[in-house]
Amino acid sequence: MNNTTTQQWWKETFVYQIYPRSFKDSNHDGIGDLKGITQSLDYLKKLGVEVIWLSPIFKSPNDDNGYDISDYQEIMDEFGTMADFDEMLAEMKKREIKLILDLVVNHSSDEHHWFQEAKKSKDNPYRDYYIWREGKDGQAPNNWVSMFGGSAWEYNPATEDYYLHLFTCKQPDLNWQNPALRKEIYQMMRFWLDKGVDGFRMDVIPFISKQEGLPDIQYTGQLLFDIVNQYANGPQVHEFLQEMHREVLAAYEVMSVGEGIGVYAKDAYEYVGEDRKELNLIYYFDHMFLDRDAKTDKPISLELPRLKQVIRDWDEALKGKGWNTFYLNNHDQPRSVSRFGEDTQYRYASATMLATLLFTLKATPFMYQGEELGMTNTTFTDIEDLNDVWMRNLWAKWQQEGKNNPKDFLAFANITSRDHARTPFQWDDSPQAGFTDSEKPWLLVNTNYPKINAQEAQADKNSIWHYYQKIISLRKGNHTLIYGDYTDLDPQHPQVFVYVRETKEEKITVILNFSPQEVIYELPAQITHLGEIFISNYPDSQGEAAHTVLKPYEAKVYCAAQS
Ligand code: NOJ
Repeated sequence: MNNTTTQQWWKETFVYQIYPRSFKDSNHDGIGDLKGITQSLDYLKKLGVEVIWLSPIFKSPNDDNGYDISDYQEIMDEFGTMADFDEMLAEMKKREIKLILDLVVNHSSDEHHWFQEAKKSKDNPYRDYYIWREGKDGQAPNNWVSMFGGSAWEYNPATEDYYLHLFTCKQPDLNWQNPALRKEIYQMMRFWLDKGVDGFRMDVIPFISKQEGLPDIQYTGQLLFDIVNQYANGPQVHEFLQEMHREVLAAYEVMSVGEGIGVYAKDAYEYVGEDRKELNLIYYFDHMFLDRDAKTDKPISLELPRLKQVIRDWDEALKGKGWNTFYLNNHDQPRSVSRFGEDTQYRYASATMLATLLFTLKATPFMYQGEELGMTNTTFTDIEDLNDVWMRNLWAKWQQEGKNNPKDFLAFANITSRDHARTPFQWDDSPQAGFTDSEKPWLLVNTNYPKINAQEAQADKNSIWHYYQKIISLRKGNHTLIYGDYTDLDPQHPQVFVYVRETKEEKITVILNFSPQEVIYELPAQITHLGEIFISNYPDSQGEAAHTVLKPYEAKVYCAAQS
């Protein structure tokens, strides 16, 4: 019944992501920093955190908030020093918290000394660290566009040719075909692992190998899919990842997790198959596209059966061969409670229902700072308040196309912007939500902080925070919830998500109402015995008798011995 072969620490735990810029400012400059994280470790420990993934903390001119690295072995000035890092790591270890760093090696910053050298001349020793092509009739070498808009090529006057950048022009793509570059990356990875970090989250890792000959994209009108499908899963990606495993990861007991942009269930095994010796985990994007129209990028409502299908496909793809992850929120996505739940009347119910989904699937859960508070999207009223480089470039593009109405743009940004996830963490009800003593945080604090903050949430026994704490502790060490098989019992129901997790000994049934309406629900015939309530998000949930009327966003989890 239980198909997965090995037990591993990274299957049994969950990951808490910190976006350091927005977590806690310790030196009054309005920007979060490493000391701020160190000071917050007790808070995280109390929640039950065992693994932290930090978004990039390395030296960077911050064109894309650290995802543009100018020195991989130095700490970003705003975040502190290497001594601060060492102290933070030591304090984590004291509390038995593991640390995962962000490995951003599809591209570097244009301010990295490799690129500063490379752009000087065609015979510079660093030239082949990047990807250069001659222009075509005075234009870019091909029709590739950057993920953040505009051509993916930038002209370099000194060499009279173009370099490739799949993100901004300040993020030139590294040339993974060059063994000297790969060697430098592996050496840098060892530097951090030898310091004692516990693994890496690998930024846009499926993009590191480019299609042979860099052929033009055949645009179909679904821009994002067109470009992502062209850039991901290039011919040598698995060769490179296997080499990285051999050269670096195999020697350490660490977690590797790839950002799986452009990776679908059909590709999953190749990246994370347990016998493949590449990555341990990968996180997919399929469910992040379900509420966006692929042609217009406009928001559409989520159809629950499609979400179930994604989860089933991935479960099926890796059953007995590899391990899944699941997430609803990260620094690139709007807040999950605002997106998949309801962030006013049913904020508690929907946030806890989503937490129940996250922690009861057969997958390592990834949660994001503030999710435990039910932090919501904010409302941007001025385009100047947006920081996200993607949004800023998009606004420039809109204007070029004659779409000049800021109100229309703000309406779009207020649903889709990555800045929603990046507003400062809400610690308490003091000015700037206790995130900083400065009057000017780098990004505006959400105005709902007097009501939604960590202090308040910890004081209230019935808060979202306490629900997270409980479900985290329930999953910990629970063999059925971690390793039990997953079966979706009602794939087509439009409002209710029902599945079981089971081993030979035990069966856990999860029932989630994904809607703001009360639903009268007939349990599927396969359910003959639910057992005892394990966790639920309404106070009066009981055992068997109460099962058919589901309140708005109700979540009920039952546990029974197998008969
Ligand atoms: C994915 C990261 O998560 C995102 O924040 C970043 O902008 C791009 N990769 C480029 O590094």
